[in-house]
Amino acid sequence: MPALTTKLVEIFRLGDELAGILDLPPSAWPEPGQYLPAQRNSNEPEVLTSPLFCVLGETDRLCVGPLPVGWSPGDMLSVLPPHGHGFQIPPSASRIGLVTRDVSPARLLPLITPALKNGASVALFCDSQLPSDLRSRIPSAVEIAPFTSLTEDLTWPDFLAMDLPIESLPHLSKVLGMEHLPFEGQALIRTEMPCHGVGNCGVCAVKTTKGWRLACQDGPVFPLEEVLHVAG
Ligand code: FES
Repeated sequence: MPALTTKLVEIFRLGDELAGILDLPPSAWPEPGQYLPAQRNSNEPEVLTSPLFCVLGETDRLCVGPLPVGWSPGDMLSVLPPHGHGFQIPPSASRIGLVTRDVSPARLLPLITPALKNGASVALFCDSQLPSDLRSRIPSAVEIAPFTSLTEDLTWPDFLAMDLPIESLPHLSKVLGMEHLPFEGQALIRTEMPCHGVGNCGVCAVKTTKGWRLACQDGPVFPLEEVLHVAG
């Protein structure tokens, strides 16, 4: 797949990560949960690509992150087309829970605007205080609640979108406190994806109920039921 050349127009801080705006046409934007393998064009070529995720739900500009330290506004990047599988929220979902555990909720934020437009109620469940710059970008219609308020009432959501480090998977069903969840869900699994599938390196392997899968190609968003009961 041919790479596109694009400009990093602007950089801003989003919680503890750097994010930026790319000058790309909407036809080249990733869906929430998909990623763009990207490299900065410079005299010293970067060996690995950086996976850039859509991090804000702006409708007229593509906001991506996390950016590697050292990238600057004005840098030219080589960007491959969107990779992997993103979130697919059923249009019928009316109570959508967004859940992060030990990671920034930035990659879930692009789900908010379409969900609200579709008339759904949206709640963000997280277990730490949100940085003020992140909180200020979350519409007031979204309830922000501690993770425990979700586990105390698992009947509330009819769809759950999670963002989780791969290390948390062995404990997921215990943390949610239920063997069989009464709702559908999907989980973005955070893991290293050094070759984005080209080298078949296997570093991004995720154990699922359907066997080992590659986060870079089969994910990084997986059905929750496929990763819920998998021991480490
Ligand atoms: S990142 Fe190498 S196979 Fe997925």
